[in-house]
Amino acid sequence: TPIRLREYRRPAWTVDTVELDVDLGIDTTDVTSRLVLRRDPAQMLPLRLDGEGLELLAVVLDGRALDAKSYRHENNVLEVDGAHDGSVLETRVRIRPAANTALEGLYLSGSRETGFLLTQCEAEGFRHITFFPDRPDVLARYTVTLRADRARFPVLLAGGNPDGAGELVDGRHWARFVDPHPKPCYLFALVAGRLESIRRDYVTADGRAVELVMWSEAHVIDRCHYALDALERSMRWDERTYGRNYDLDVFHVVATHDFNMGAMENKGLNIFNAKYLLADPDSSTDEEYRAVEAVVAHEYFHNWSGNRVTCRDWFQLSLKEGLTVFREQQFSAEMNSLSLKRIEDVSLLRRTQFPEDAGPLAHPVRPAEYREINNFYTATVYEKGSELVRMIAGHLGEDGFRRGMDLYFERHDGRAATIEDFLAALGEANAIDLKSYLAWYAQSGTPRLHAKGEYDAAQREYTLTLSQQTRATPGQPEKVPLPIPVKLSLFDRGGKVLPLHVDGEAAETEKVLVLDKTSQRFVFREVDAPPVPSLLRGFSAPVVLEYDYTPEELALLLTHDADGFNRWEAGQQLAILAFDALQGTGESAACKAWCNALTALFENDAIDDALLADLLTPPGEIEFADRQGEVDPVKIHAQRQELQRRLAGRLGAPLLLDRYRALAADTDQKLDAASQAKRRLKRRVLELLALLEADQAHALAARQYGAASGMTDRLAALGVLVRGRASQAAAALADFRQRYADNPLALDKWFSVQAQVPGEPALAAVMALESDPAFTLKNPNRTRALFGAFASTNPSGFHRTDGAGYRLLAERLGQLDALNPQIAARLATAFNGWQRLEPVRREAARLALNGLSQREDLSANLSEIIGNVLQH
Ligand code: ARG
Ligand code: ZN
Repeated sequence: TPIRLREYRRPAWTVDTVELDVDLGIDTTDVTSRLVLRRDPAQMLPLRLDGEGLELLAVVLDGRALDAKSYRHENNVLEVDGAHDGSVLETRVRIRPAANTALEGLYLSGSRETGFLLTQCEAEGFRHITFFPDRPDVLARYTVTLRADRARFPVLLAGGNPDGAGELVDGRHWARFVDPHPKPCYLFALVAGRLESIRRDYVTADGRAVELVMWSEAHVIDRCHYALDALERSMRWDERTYGRNYDLDVFHVVATHDFNMGAMENKGLNIFNAKYLLADPDSSTDEEYRAVEAVVAHEYFHNWSGNRVTCRDWFQLSLKEGLTVFREQQFSAEMNSLSLKRIEDVSLLRRTQFPEDAGPLAHPVRPAEYREINNFYTATVYEKGSELVRMIAGHLGEDGFRRGMDLYFERHDGRAATIEDFLAALGEANAIDLKSYLAWYAQSGTPRLHAKGEYDAAQREYTLTLSQQTRATPGQPEKVPLPIPVKLSLFDRGGKVLPLHVDGEAAETEKVLVLDKTSQRFVFREVDAPPVPSLLRGFSAPVVLEYDYTPEELALLLTHDADGFNRWEAGQQLAILAFDALQGTGESAACKAWCNALTALFENDAIDDALLADLLTPPGEIEFADRQGEVDPVKIHAQRQELQRRLAGRLGAPLLLDRYRALAADTDQKLDAASQAKRRLKRRVLELLALLEADQAHALAARQYGAASGMTDRLAALGVLVRGRASQAAAALADFRQRYADNPLALDKWFSVQAQVPGEPALAAVMALESDPAFTLKNPNRTRALFGAFASTNPSGFHRTDGAGYRLLAERLGQLDALNPQIAARLATAFNGWQRLEPVRREAARLALNGLSQREDLSANLSEIIGNVLQH
């Protein structure tokens, strides 16, 4: 039975303080916990603690060892008789880290001989370590003592401030940590093993001396410097932007290659998937550098948005995740480029969240119910959640939002809060009622925003009619209108932006209209001729805009809009028109307009190289599929290729070659924005050239591969060779395989690039890669690199008419589920949208899914996803 938001009850028992004694070993670890308990006098319920996979060794209540009659241990709950307010409950349990393949709770990263122990507790991993009321609204103060063999585990870390360490007999040692800040148990963490560190002294704006420490296995510690710099930038930024200071004497960050998610914000002891911490030019692309900076910032920002103020229950997950993604996006935009970051974020939203919101897995940013919370760490909770915060921040303005955030942090510091609390604090600080935004949190589905303009020459008036509609989603047949901020400008037909006169008032050139009904009209006066509206500037709301632009109007915006995002968006919309017109023969007007406008921009030196690269990229295959009633992924791939071929043809080989050569002449691997932009454009130009003059492009790619001094250029070249099935591909792949044999993060890219080869050959490639000795289902990064890349990012390879892609995935999901249910469930979301496939593939997908759903041993994680995907 699902857990429901409306059934929330305060905890019957809470915990004031926790003392944990952990006796660490690879095969068995013993955990003793002493809880000082607080009882809610209004409830008077028996003491019940969560615990899963724990071997219970002893229960001691208020100093008396209990016999088995005084407690019951069944169905992952320990019920203890005789506890009262203020009681001290001691439990002793044994757990088995090396046997933990689910990577939740305490587990081993790496080999038995050289690996290290670490924890992952969010969302419900702490119950795999000890008995506890495992829910985020139980905040306690932690004292943690670790004991272990010194030679095998020289480094012992837990969250909080260090509070002593020393020797024990038999070559063992101990270390203690005290965390003065009350926290929920999902923020508990420990790490033990042979690790190296790099350190930096830091003084917060409010004067606290902090030691920042990055930890990793010895051979990769040199790759942590970039992350340490990024951490310092994040800390300064949060001081400057939100007045938030760090609050412990130490801040530890640990890298592991065995991690289910991206990273984890454990109090004072962040733990990272190595993919988001390690960076060096030889193994990381420019995109990965930016991802490291963003995730380091994200986890650090959680110290306030998540840790100091946490969530009352897991339904409120977006309270910390949406908010923290928003803060991370603001930071990254400031560190890099505002419009490029916005383009990247919106592309991600459209590629991941829009399809989620349009299919059987659709759920509100604040879900009303769930079975397995780990299935709700979704694009909707994170990315759409961030868009909601962005709309609210936009509504309040920069100063107003800061005022609101100050009040939110002050009012809820040290507590577990709700989304209502968040809206109330932001609203009250500004004397604005934000309650209408709550509907955005409760309603799933992407709203369609329809816009229509009418010009009255006699009155010199332009009337914009905005209306909204959201389609039914599973469990939500009826939809209500939402407040949709529509930022806009008007352009004349020469591309000049117009002053806006609304209700007699002049005269900015940009305005935000808020549509909060089903339909509304907005009148602009003193308009001399029919204007071209630039709507939803900066993507001011997470909606699908429907406006009947002509190709000429879009070309005008693509050329003249000063809003970098909307300029790109005009190009995307124009590419969509061109794509839709491809069915006909000959040049369509849209395709011509798209190609001509881009050619003019290509020849214009004033435009930023990175923006140009993005402008030259049409929407992805998943975005095109999202717009179609019945999906044939192979046809979409072919049509998108054709679209790009026409663009390449219009630009012409000589122009592309010239630009490629000019960009390739610059071979330094600097990380500044201009150098990154050049690499991005160089890659795009080479990809376009490959559609026109394959042999020549492949020769250039092979040269670039051989000469590359960094991963960005090397991987770009490899991608062109592999996707084009060039004769030089095999040699480059063999070289890459050997060169990075001992570098798992780089090797992951070798798996992915082959799993992403479009069309027919992908399946055979994936099956061959499975028998590479480096492949294992036990490592989440490796599994994602092969099967995630294949099933979730290669539609034309995965969606075969013979169904072999579906059968392979279903079979591996069954195996993976027995090892790691979280990863299996996540990978299974690749089946989302199967109902909209054309009939042959649809039937094949149904068969594969049915087969999987009939297995008896499925985890709660996987069966929830499969069940939802099949049901609706
Ligand atoms: N809170 C982490 C973040 O920064 C995500 C961890 C989620 N882990 C999980 N197993 N569900 O986004
Ligand atoms: Zn997060």
